[in-house]
This record gives sequence, C-alpha cells and structure tokens, in this order.
Amino acid sequence: MSGQPALSDSGIPRPRDLAELLGIQRHACNSIGSTLYARVLDLCIERVDRDGPIRDLLVPHEHDPFGSALALRFLGAVHRIVLDGRAGDLAAHYPSAGGTPGPTLEEDFEATVATHLDELARRIDDGLQTNEVGRSASLAGPLLELARQGRPLRLLEVGSSAGLNLRWDHFRYEAGENSFGDPDAPVRFVEPWVDAAPDLSGSVEIAERRGCDRSPIDATTDEGRLRLRSFVWPDLVERFRRLDGAIEVATAVPALVERADAPEWVAAQLAEPAQGCTTVVMHSIVLQYLSKDARRALTGALGAAGRRATADAPLAWLRMEPGRDGAEVRLTSWPGGDERLVAISGYHGPPIRWLG
Ligand SMILES: C[S@@+](CC[C@H](N)C(=O)[O-])C[C@H]1O[C@@H](n2cnc3c(N)ncnc32)[C@H](O)[C@@H]1O
Repeated sequence: MSGQPALSDSGIPRPRDLAELLGIQRHACNSIGSTLYARVLDLCIERVDRDGPIRDLLVPHEHDPFGSALALRFLGAVHRIVLDGRAGDLAAHYPSAGGTPGPTLEEDFEATVATHLDELARRIDDGLQTNEVGRSASLAGPLLELARQGRPLRLLEVGSSAGLNLRWDHFRYEAGENSFGDPDAPVRFVEPWVDAAPDLSGSVEIAERRGCDRSPIDATTDEGRLRLRSFVWPDLVERFRRLDGAIEVATAVPALVERADAPEWVAAQLAEPAQGCTTVVMHSIVLQYLSKDARRALTGALGAAGRRATADAPLAWLRMEPGRDGAEVRLTSWPGGDERLVAISGYHGPPIRWLG
C-alpha cells in the first residue's frame, strides 16, 4: 500500500468511509469560508456512527460516487426547506434566510432533518446543480481571446444548469485599467485574478447561446430560483448577491438550455461545422458527474468534430475541471488541436491564476 488515498475513475481521491467523505467536504466548506456548513458537517460526521435521522439518510448513499457530492446534495436539500419557509428554528441560523448562526444550530439542524426525513430522502437523489457564476470570471479570458479572432461565438455549454454562465459577456470584469463589460452590470468581478490578468479588450458578438443539462433549471421561475439558491452556501452572502445579479441578467438575455445527456447532445450540435463562427463547447465542473464511458463519448465527439473544423468554421473546447492544485482551465483549438492550460482557478472562480 502506498498510503495514498485510492483514486476514483475521474482521478478524485476516493474516501474510505462516510465519515471521511463528510470530512473532505467539511474541510472544503471551511476553506471557502462557510463556517456554518463546517459546523453542520461536524455534526453529521459524529452522527453517521449513531442511530438517528442523519445516519438513516446518509448510510444508504455511502457507496455513491464521490464526485456526486453527497454532502452538498444533502445540505442543499435541507437549505431548500429553510428557504421555503418550512424550518423556522433552523432559518434563524441561516444568513440566506436572514438569520445568524447561533449555539443551537446543530440541534435545530438535526430536528429539521428528522421532521422532513421523507422529503430529504427523495431530494438527496437529485443531482447537485450549483450554477456558480464566479466561474464566468475563470472562463472570460479565453472567451475574449476567441472573440478577438473576429468571428461571432457560437456557445454550446454542457451541464449548463440554468445557463447563467452562458451570459458571461453581460457581466463586468475589471483588472486595473483593463476591463470588459457594462460598468453597471449586476454581476461584477473586480480584480478576480492574482498577479497577471488576461487581455480584456475587444468586443464580443454571440451567434448562439445554447446549453444542455440532464435537469435544466429555468432561472425565470420561482421554482428555478429556489433550486438555484438552495445550492449556494447559506453563509456566503456575496454569492447570493452574485446569483441574484445573474438571475436578473438571465431574465433579460435568453439562452436555451435543453434537457439532454452531454455526449449525445454535443455530437448532435457538432454534426455540421458552423461556417463563419467560432463554435465553443464549454463546461465547468461537470465531468465528475459523467461516467467513464460518457466522458469518452464526449471527447470522441469533440475529436471527430475537430477533424472536420476549418479556418472558416473553427472549433474550441473550453473547460474548467478539477486538477491537482485547483480547477484547471484548458483550451483546445481546431483546426490543429492545440491544447493550452490557460488558468488555474478556485472551484467557484476567483482567485484565478492566469497563465495566458
Ligand atoms: C456542479 S453543476 C455545474 C453547473 C455549471 N456548469 C456551473 O459551473 O455553474 C453540474 C451540472 O452538470 C449537469 N449534468 C450532470 N451530468 C450530466 C449529463 N450526463 N448530461 C448533461 N448534464 C449533466 C448537472 O445536472 C448539473 O447541472
């Protein structure tokens, strides 16, 4: 034995048991500043070895793929009940519902789980759909670089959720004197890059904004907004502001998100090269939810379309997916198939280390 944790087929370390899995997520929540979720997960780690509602809910999922983010699915399902106004005592601890974490957080969390056990058991099977707008800042540099090549962009986003990042060009990005976007945009990224920043000059023409998701969210409906909010960390209030800004943009800027499985959808979209446009297949934090076969089919469809790409119908594959030191933003361009690592970013966007 090497002493290293086993790796799942997506390269993510596979925890040995439920407590270790929750511990990894606890550490991640704490490191992004969610002390509320760190506290709740400490409680869950303690409770999975004892009879009670938390154990009843989580143990049936102990063999779920690590990448399916069990802890966040569970916490999102509870958060939804809080935001829906059905857990008053717990809401008093959740800043997203106007509360402040207090000494009885753990007790009130466990009582809420016990009261809504059946609903939570159903919802925990729903996939995680955090539509994190901060990832637009990680993707904006390469997208602007592609736009400066002079052709309209045909954006095709895989695992798009509500398609909020498909509207990236309606957000504002600033790095010193270097900026892109409407200064009054409801979503603003000020100095999201550490050290060097990408060139933010030029204008962008979008020929098409289209995405697919196995479970698309309509950000213009009450249900869609509730679902989107439920997956945001309740004490990271800045993210709620950003999400609200992106929902405002989504109501004004249409983007079609189709219900479809990623590999087939990509293959269908890329069946014919789009003359006069740069086709950009993009995704962020999606591959871990695909099976090995689906990932292979997706890259196969991209490779085949890449071989059909021409100077007048180029293809780019832009992705932001977990790497060794954070999320890696990679860009592959056809014809040619050159691949570059353009940035290393946080999983939710800033801080971003731009590599150019
Ligand atoms: C963590 S979310 C990321 C959402 C968005 N890309 C972002 O960065 O904000 C992953 C998304 O991938 C979608 N997804 C997972 N498996 C999929 C599949 N096989 N085909 C299409 N979408 C899928 C999920 O429904 C979910 O909306």
